[in-house]
Amino acid sequence: MDAKIQTLLAWYKKHQRDLPWRNNTDAYQIFISELMLQQTQVDRVIPLYQAFLNRFPTWQSLADAPTSDLIHSWAGLGYNRRVLYARESARVVVATGVPTTETEWRTLKGVGPYMAAALTEFVNHRRALVIDTNVRRVIGRLYLNLPFPRPEDDRRILEILERVTPMRGAHWNLPQALMDLGSSTCLARTPICDRCPLQASCSSRMLFSEIHLAQTLATKQPKKIRERIHGEKPFPDRIYRGRILALVRKHSRMRITALGELIDPTFDRIADADWIRAMTTRLVADGLLIMHEHDIITLP
Ligand code: ADE
Repeated sequence: MDAKIQTLLAWYKKHQRDLPWRNNTDAYQIFISELMLQQTQVDRVIPLYQAFLNRFPTWQSLADAPTSDLIHSWAGLGYNRRVLYARESARVVVATGVPTTETEWRTLKGVGPYMAAALTEFVNHRRALVIDTNVRRVIGRLYLNLPFPRPEDDRRILEILERVTPMRGAHWNLPQALMDLGSSTCLARTPICDRCPLQASCSSRMLFSEIHLAQTLATKQPKKIRERIHGEKPFPDRIYRGRILALVRKHSRMRITALGELIDPTFDRIADADWIRAMTTRLVADGLLIMHEHDIITLP
């Protein structure tokens, strides 16, 4: 087995969250949990999940549910249309049985690629490649040197998952392990690399250390300096310039047009292009970078 996955699964065995839909074999309960978790955070889902199952405990009870009761029980979960789709799904399941493959799950209304893959693993215990935001982030960082991966990177994320998902054994623990690491440690904005079981082998670890150092130094500056902040960005330009330098230090050379998505999770190719160029020019003017042909930058 892939060494990183082995470490991750060992960590998961010890540190997994105790969630009511885990180690549960009831297809209906797992279906409802995934439906809710697609749009709402785990902590908020737990009480709503228990209450919903008390009111609608089986596929049949959901299939028979009056619309007004459903909308009522869905309060706090958003996207009311989804629970109506779920009722349609329940009617199909009552008529034809619980799906047994990813393709069958996909035929249910409102069941998209994420949910079909998740249900194939968690209900059927069949191998499927599950990508949600946590999985994408952890895999992108661990294997692809992408500190802030985006849905456009999913083809590459899938290739990694295909390679590292175990063929046998409890492979359904892998997506949940990735989710747990992503929500406890490999956090979206500021991962806590120091307590990550995979820090030694993570392809993004160095970059995050540099970013962290840059931010620590930054906060020690006297407060009164008013700093330039671009648009609605959460940090002053100084932080992003630090990230650009960290990238060039790591890769020796970078193309300016590749910087944006690597230093800023909210980067917009059109609206932010000039901003990146201006920050790079400033680093060149300060003697910290050299600009070459074809938008390539290196250290001096
Ligand atoms: N998000 C979606 N599915 C989940 C699961 N099974 N455990 C934790 N978080 C999740």
